[in-house]
Amino acid sequence: MFYPFLRPLLFRLEPETAHELALGAIARTPPALLRFLSSSGERFPEAIRRFGLEFSNPVGLAAGFDKNGVAAPSLAALGFGFIELGTVTRQAQEGNPRPRIFRLPRDRALINRAGFNNDGAAALASRLARARPSCVVGINIGKSRVVPLEEATEDYLASLEIVHPHADYIAVNVSSPNTPGLRALQQADLLAALLEALQERNRQLSQARPKPLLVKIAPDLGDEDLAMIVSVVQRVGIAGIIATNTTTRRDLLVRTPRETLAAIGEGGLSGAPLKALSNSVIAKIHLLTRGAVPVIGVGGIFNAEDAWDKISAGASLVQVYTGLVYEGIGIVRRINRGLVEIMRREGFRSLDQAVGCRASEWSAFRACDHGQVN
Ligand SMILES: Cc1cc2nc3c(=O)[nH]c(=O)nc-3n(C[C@H](O)[C@H](O)[C@H](O)COP(=O)(O)O)c2cc1C
Repeated sequence: MFYPFLRPLLFRLEPETAHELALGAIARTPPALLRFLSSSGERFPEAIRRFGLEFSNPVGLAAGFDKNGVAAPSLAALGFGFIELGTVTRQAQEGNPRPRIFRLPRDRALINRAGFNNDGAAALASRLARARPSCVVGINIGKSRVVPLEEATEDYLASLEIVHPHADYIAVNVSSPNTPGLRALQQADLLAALLEALQERNRQLSQARPKPLLVKIAPDLGDEDLAMIVSVVQRVGIAGIIATNTTTRRDLLVRTPRETLAAIGEGGLSGAPLKALSNSVIAKIHLLTRGAVPVIGVGGIFNAEDAWDKISAGASLVQVYTGLVYEGIGIVRRINRGLVEIMRREGFRSLDQAVGCRASEWSAFRACDHGQVN
């Protein structure tokens, strides 16, 4: 409603400063007012059950937007069915030097090399102990930068223990391109060892049923690596896969000048150019598992059609980050409303029926499919 006026002002500021301002403003606004401003009072026509949890709608906030949980109750009031906080690490850390977030408005994209700047897992846990959001809460954990890869498991285990009581689900991030070596944890043996250890501790910490443990993967995996990850996930009993994190590719950008990219340097690319690539990963997982492993689809969602594409590729929940930056808080309500209309148009009575209905089409990724090329 008011974002078309606000966005040019925010976009004049350095991206991370704009983010801090926006997040601070959301955190300070009473949840009831945010519910009113974003008209998030409407209900999605069906409650959605995934990995033993009930979601009021399928649209979630992706990790990285509120790493420290400073605005969690207010973000829930924007109408999200779930919010994923973090990535947090066992040790508080500053992340990479600023500037580390860059806008690419011509491609409706962002590049970031934040590097897990966060207050530490314990700070997030104590914030959540004081104020619990009204929707499903996922907590995303990563490796502390100073910890060598060989000691990663102990580091993740420590974070798991700290956040466990406060999370409805826990996401294991092995896919950020901004922590050196992290993506190596996606290799079969390392991933199996890490996930098995986390799953075992998860069982010990949980009284009745273990909390759902999910793994977040990169979009830059070969088909063999993806198949191997899926088989590890199924063997270890991981509850779901979050697909995908940002890409290190730059060839998906068609409008941003090469000199601009060269000046920005390294980092993960998100937003419209990532959409078709992440859809293909989602579709491949859906086909490999015959829909048996729930996928949270993320990457380049700006509207209900984009969310529908993810669902038809095989996602049973979706998340947004870059879309929120470009479209404002009304995006959550617009996607939910639009999804209901699309489901009706396409003749589906429930979301579950639609999951993966076009997986075969989406599994064949063509570089020219991405958001900006029509
Ligand atoms: C500035 C920024 C910071 C991010 N930080 C994290 C993070 O800490 N942990 C994580 O798992 N993903 C992080 N992400 C990735 C997003 O959660 C998401 O997977 C990715 O941006 C693709 O979705 P999008 O196109 O809707 O942005 C970050 C993305 C951005 C743009």
